Amino acid sequence: KKSITNKADFKIRKKLDEADTLLEMNDLEKAAMKYDKILNKHPESVRAMSGKAQVMDKMAEQKRSNALLEEYISLASKAIQMVDIPADLLLQVAERLADRQQFRGWMKKALKTRKLVAEKFPENLVLQNKLGVGYIMANELNEAKDVFRQVLAVSSMDGYALCHLGFLLKTFDHEMEEAIPLLEAGIKTKDPGTADGRFYMHLGDALQRVGKNDEAYKYFNEGADLGFFRSAYQRSLYNSDVDSQGWWTMEQTGYQKYFKMLEENWETIRDEGMAQMDPATGAFHPEEENLREKGDWKQFTLYQRGRKVDSSCAKTPKTCALIDKFPDAKSCKRGQVKFSVMQPGVHVWPHCGPTNSRIRAHLGLVVPEGPKIRVVNETRTWMEGKFIVFDDSFEHEVWHDGTQLRLVLIVDVWHPDITEKQRSQLSPI
Ligand code: LMR
Ligand code: MN
Repeated sequence: KKSITNKADFKIRKKLDEADTLLEMNDLEKAAMKYDKILNKHPESVRAMSGKAQVMDKMAEQKRSNALLEEYISLASKAIQMVDIPADLLLQVAERLADRQQFRGWMKKALKTRKLVAEKFPENLVLQNKLGVGYIMANELNEAKDVFRQVLAVSSMDGYALCHLGFLLKTFDHEMEEAIPLLEAGIKTKDPGTADGRFYMHLGDALQRVGKNDEAYKYFNEGADLGFFRSAYQRSLYNSDVDSQGWWTMEQTGYQKYFKMLEENWETIRDEGMAQMDPATGAFHPEEENLREKGDWKQFTLYQRGRKVDSSCAKTPKTCALIDKFPDAKSCKRGQVKFSVMQPGVHVWPHCGPTNSRIRAHLGLVVPEGPKIRVVNETRTWMEGKFIVFDDSFEHEVWHDGTQLRLVLIVDVWHPDITEKQRSQLSPI
């Protein structure tokens, strides 16, 4: 306890130790009373303040209470701002505090905490790296990059900083050439925090985009061997334990009856989708996941994460009424129902969807000559009024080389082997 006890606390160490013992024994009520008693007499006691905070932290967890969590955050924040807080205690309290602030969704506050410790311990690169992640969480990406660059200026082979800087350059700046060597070097260090499927995914993705497909597959295979991907071709990161395949038939899904019902109404669906096409009054939005090499690709979302988007369905009520009759589509928390329009000239980079928990079906609505879609090693095209069905957790790629727009309705459905109970427990995507 020496390293967390300042001069003032040393004088009352007996009482503090007693309170700590109660805390360690999880006698939270008594511990709280003891710390309060100490704080009444010695409001400047850092150990009592942080001890009381820890009590609230534990209570918040037990009761799953945000109110208690917020009390903890307030007390811990006070503790770390006390001038004579010993370094070790500051480190202990601040680490947990930043983590809990993040958990509460208070990213800016967590960042402030991370800044405070990073400044107090400028030599500690682990803390600098955590500050970098704090900036990412707070969506301050330029600052994040600066922090990782500063770490690399001191320690050029810091794997954590290499991977995170590479990730940021790839994902937000689309600087593939710059990102590739950083991610490669970072992964190679095997430093803590670098064994992460996302880094393998983005590295391979970047390599594919600069035309180095063989090298990309080296990392996809490695990622699969390490258990991050289900296979080199199926690189979703949110997976259920089900059998998968690239292309499906409607029969194989077991939802044939519903797909047929939508096919029978395809013209109604097409007309509602086409009515939204005018850029001035329509509801389509450009694809924003940076999946396109080139071209004009827009989507209009009717359902997402298992919820109807009311403002959208007000515009296409007949289509939504049809989807409402398709339980495994409208309840698909890990997918969407959306119109997708592609103008000629589009190329969508090879990519994998986030999850194998869904199967993706496309209903062809306006299908000229020219567009095609590859899933792993088999390329197909659409037909008006007909569904094609595939598992988008497998690598797929889309081209539109025609002269007219292509419109489809994308309908995600639960993978049929996922039970009702599992469905209710999966996180939405
Ligand atoms: C995709 O899901 O990536 C594409 O197939 C979407 C589309 O409109 O073809
Ligand atoms: Mn896709």
